[in-house]
Amino acid sequence: MTVSLAAPRTNHAKFITFEGIDGAGKSSHVERARELIAAAGLPVICTREPGGTALGEQVRALFLGNSMSPHTEALLVFAARREHLEKVVWPALARGEWVLCDRFTDATFAYQGAGREIGAAFVESLANITHPAFEPDMTLLFDLPPDAAQNRVAGRGAADRIEAESVAFHERVRRSYLERAAASPNRIRVLDTRESKEAVAERVVTLVKSLLP
Ligand SMILES: Nc1ncnc2c1ncn2[C@@H]1O[C@H](COP(=O)(O)OP(=O)(O)OP(=O)(O)O)[C@@H](O)[C@H]1O
Ligand SMILES: [Mg+2]
Repeated sequence: MTVSLAAPRTNHAKFITFEGIDGAGKSSHVERARELIAAAGLPVICTREPGGTALGEQVRALFLGNSMSPHTEALLVFAARREHLEKVVWPALARGEWVLCDRFTDATFAYQGAGREIGAAFVESLANITHPAFEPDMTLLFDLPPDAAQNRVAGRGAADRIEAESVAFHERVRRSYLERAAASPNRIRVLDTRESKEAVAERVVTLVKSLLP
């Protein structure tokens, strides 16, 4: 059986992921990055996890709509992730399209590994079998204290079951993200989103520009 593995990087297309706790500012800045890449005349797609495919969106609804074992959460998001990589991300990169993704494997380390406390080793083994030797070219980590993030999304309507978790849960998630950034400073760039949207957008522009050919 032929399995389409990670796209050989024979072109300059990049895989950029957007991470951070709920309300930190990911979605606000994906669009700025997309505009910048498109303005450079490069093809670019925006996608998200869990989701990004018809099956993945069903998994997202299943994931957000039901309580389940923390390990099951991790297994489900990795199933959706493999589908997303094979059907969307790897083919796009192979065609030379840039891929901007709202959440990826760093989120599973942060939310299930640390937030749900299943530990990094379980997540690491799933990452190793799901996408061996494949990781984002750059990860933008939008950082904000959980109380400030919750204030920002307070007007949005009913929180989903992850957003509704305790401040302590979101503190563990945030700490895990920051530890991962400290361990991979070249890949994971931290943006302090206590700064104004304009200031954060400028940093996004500078960082994404550094990847342009
Ligand atoms: N730097 C900033 N300064 C002030 N407000 C901001 C900033 N960045 C984002 N916001 C606002 O904070 C709110 C949350 O931002 P956004 O929806 O982009 O977060 P998110 O990380 O995508 O959240 P979720 O994980 O829930 O999708 C929005 O109302 C947005 O306008
Ligand atoms: Mg968002």
